[in-house]
Parts: sequence; structure tokens; C-alpha cells
Amino acid sequence: MDGVLQFLNQSIGKKILMAISGLGFCAFLLVHLIGNLFIYGGQDLFHSYVDHLHALGPFIYISEAGLFILLCIHLSMAVTLYFQNLVARPTTYVMKRNAGGRTLASGTMPYTGLIILIFVVIHLITFKFADHSQRTVFEIVSSALTQPGYIALYVFAMIVVGLHVNHGFWSAFQTLGIDHPKYMPAIRAFSVIYSVMLGIGFGFIPIYIMLLSLR
Ligand code: HEM
Repeated sequence: MDGVLQFLNQSIGKKILMAISGLGFCAFLLVHLIGNLFIYGGQDLFHSYVDHLHALGPFIYISEAGLFILLCIHLSMAVTLYFQNLVARPTTYVMKRNAGGRTLASGTMPYTGLIILIFVVIHLITFKFADHSQRTVFEIVSSALTQPGYIALYVFAMIVVGLHVNHGFWSAFQTLGIDHPKYMPAIRAFSVIYSVMLGIGFGFIPIYIMLLSLR
């Protein structure tokens, strides 16, 4: 127990937990994206996917509990590290001077993270916790994603998700010590491909649904 507390007290311990939980989210996003691609197959195909998913029963509840635990870990570590860094480097001047290699994605991680958190709360209220007794999941998704406000929110949020993953993915590998000069360029390249794929894959869904409604 003492060892665990000592590990959590050190910045590197918190960063490792953040890296592992972040990679867990990256894996979830891939699975979620693959599932959402069934939307392109139309209402029936998407519902057969949703039915198969719900038929997994307890496994779904275990996955949801796992996601919630990942969220608690990622969020608490991010907030603690953010304030630790503020105390350690109180002026933005010092931050900028030390900032060799800063990119838009790396410099905005706390803000993109906060936007994703707000998006996920809205997303769950709109889709997961909507009243499913009168409408199917496909109808709930289509009616939200044909409203200009939701379309704008979704497209913006998907760009933000792409930015966050773009830095977070390779940075997690670096934190975990997999930063050998031989592998890092490949991990960084994969990070770009992965984040663009998530951004475009998710971001095109609201545009597709809007185009469908115009036909
Ligand atoms: C166009 C993009 C997206 C669409 C159409 C979409 C659609 C959905 C739908 C329909 C559900 C509810 C499924 C059900 O009722 O069982 C859901 C759940 C969820 N979505 Fe999304 N989603 C999108 C993007 C995202 C993104 C980018 C994230 C995270 C950053 C995300 C996180 C979640 C989470 C955490 C759940 C709950 C999972 C669960 O409880 O099993 N979604 N999504």
C-alpha cells in the first residue's frame, strides 16, 4: 500500500497512470468509431449492430464501469499535474522559454481535454440517456445530427478530439519509456494517422447525416 501511495505521489507515477488511461481511451475511440461506421449502412444495419452490442449484457456494464474508472483516473491525474506545473512554473514567460518543441496540440492539452469532457457530457445526455422508449437509437442520432447547432458542436469537438489524440498518443508512449530514437518517428507518424482517422471518421458522420436529410 505504501508503495502505491509513494508511486502516486511522484509526478512520474501520475504521468504513467495518465498515459495508460489515455491509451485506454484511444482504444475505446477506435472500437466506438468502428461501431458508428454502421450508420453509413442505414437504419437496419445500424440497429442490428446496436442489438448485438446490447446482447453482450453484463460485458457492456463491465466495459462502462471500466470507462468510468479510466475517466476518473485520467481526469484526476490531469488536474493534479496541471496545478503542480502551475506552482512549479508560475509565469507563462518561463513556460514559453522552456517550451522547445511545443506544438498547437501539446500546448493546448488541458483546454482540449476540458472541451472533450464537456462534449462527452452533452453527448451522453443527448444519445445514451435520451428517452429510448419512443425512438430508436438511429432516430435519436439522426434528429440531433440534423440540427445546425449539434452539427457544429460535433464537427468542432471531433477536430478537438483529433488534436488531443495527436499529442496524447505519442506522448503516452514516451512517458511509458518507449521513446527509443529508432521507434519514436514511427510512433509519432502513427499518432498523426490515428488522430486524423478519428477526426475524419467521427467528424464526417454528422455531415453525412445532414446530407442524407437534404435528399
Ligand atoms: C459522430 C460521432 C459520434 C456518434 C454518432 C456517437 C454515437 C454514440 C451513441 C449512439 C451512443 C449511445 C449508444 C447506446 O445507446 O448504447 C454513444 C455512446 C458513447 N459515446 Fe459516442 N458517438 C460519437 C463520438 C464520440 C466521441 C468522439 C466520444 C469520446 C470522445 C464518444 C464517447 C462516447 C461514450 C463514452 C459513450 C458511452 C459508451 C457506453 O456507455 O457504452 N462518442 N455514442
